[in-house]
Amino acid sequence: MKIGILGTGTMARTLGGRWAAAGHDVLVGGRSAAKAQQLATALGARSGSLADAAQAADVTLLAVAYTAVPEVLDAAGGRGALTGKVVVDCTNPVELTGFSVTSGATSLAEQIQQRTGARVVKAFNLCEAKVWQLDPPSFDGRPLVVPFCGDDEQARATVGALIEDLGCAPLAVGDVTYARHLEAMAALVISLLFRGHDPYTVFNLVTAADEARRKVAGAPVQP
Ligand SMILES: NC(=O)c1ccc[n+]([C@@H]2O[C@H](COP(=O)([O-])OP(=O)(O)OC[C@H]3O[C@@H](n4cnc5c(N)ncnc54)[C@H](OP(=O)(O)O)[C@@H]3O)[C@@H](O)[C@H]2O)c1
Repeated sequence: MKIGILGTGTMARTLGGRWAAAGHDVLVGGRSAAKAQQLATALGARSGSLADAAQAADVTLLAVAYTAVPEVLDAAGGRGALTGKVVVDCTNPVELTGFSVTSGATSLAEQIQQRTGARVVKAFNLCEAKVWQLDPPSFDGRPLVVPFCGDDEQARATVGALIEDLGCAPLAVGDVTYARHLEAMAALVISLLFRGHDPYTVFNLVTAADEARRKVAGAPVQP
């Protein structure tokens, strides 16, 4: 798959590196050509402008500070360049104090979709980059479950495959409005991290392995 990355920071390095290692054709796009080239060389990827990362890709990962999102989308070509494209949004509109600026009435993912006409999928926003560097990310012997959302079925399938490439279990939770919940969940994780929790702190949805193992209060335990 051709993956364009908007950004040259930690998430660009982490996810871009994992996908390049999985055999994808990754192009790193940054506002700084030198930074993009340096990162691309480190990842075994190609580099280019923000517009290159948007235009030459099957999927574009948006991995910049949330405050820079409008500017970066415009530099990537704006609505004309991104309409109909699959854009993976891993950004979190959360201040570094750990307090969320998400209102709950909408989400950054929805605003990006509205602004660009892209098929936006919110994903990879719930864990610290160190978690995505694990190969595979697994907790208590279970693969990390990665909730993600978006309106378009094909875009969700594409992003589901990229989640599997990291060794994680994709969990499509709903349309793009579910990004409100994913962004709020991230705000909670971030606030914990800022209070000193281990960077490997995650939400990991689990289901008791089988009905026989579920203990119900007051009922005899099934063998
Ligand atoms: N790090 C994590 O653990 C983590 C985990 C999940 C989600 N996220 C989210 O992922 C996104 C990226 O995080 P990160 O940790 O990769 O950030 P980062 O390492 O600080 O990198 C930020 C990127 O944004 C670019 N940028 C900032 N302001 C810009 C502007 N005005 N115009 C163009 N580009 C600009 C930077 O470009 P320059 O290098 O040129 O300044 C850099 O490429 C954030 O929204 C964050 O909330 C982060």
